[in-house]
Amino acid sequence: MSIKSVLKYGNKKLAAVSKTVTEFSTPYLRALIQDMQETMKTKGGIGIAAPQIGVNLRIVMFGFEKSERYPNEAPIPFTTLVNPVIEVLSDAMSDGWEGCLSVPGLRGLVPRYLNIQYHGFDIEGKVISRIANNFHARVVQHECDHLDGILFPQRIQDMRYFGFEDEILGVHQ
Ligand code: NI
Repeated sequence: MSIKSVLKYGNKKLAAVSKTVTEFSTPYLRALIQDMQETMKTKGGIGIAAPQIGVNLRIVMFGFEKSERYPNEAPIPFTTLVNPVIEVLSDAMSDGWEGCLSVPGLRGLVPRYLNIQYHGFDIEGKVISRIANNFHARVVQHECDHLDGILFPQRIQDMRYFGFEDEILGVHQ
């Protein structure tokens, strides 16, 4: 296991639609998930998707106790999700600031659904199903977007609210 470099916006692998995982509990999958975890922790992220380290498989992970990048947000249980599916539970959306390890130094204001249920599997193939609201729901939507080749700048509706985080955090927080 090792810390991987994170691909940056513009890399073709980030724009690809990732493939469904068909085999669980494999040494390959375990090693991949450890690499994702180490990379995410080292870079200070609260979520990462497999394509960000160059692997186009439908795997995301997220979660934190305390985040320097998002100091005002409530903790999210640490979760690895394989083949995730999101079900939107209400039409309610809100705008929130997002960043991404693949878009270093930048933040944008992105609308996301507030209430979702997500389904998927852990690496053993056991079903995970959870209702998530607010920031938890936002993070899951952001990570799952990566599996369809979508990065947060593509979700920004008003490009005035996209810029460098040192500038934005100074103005808006
Ligand atoms: Ni991201």
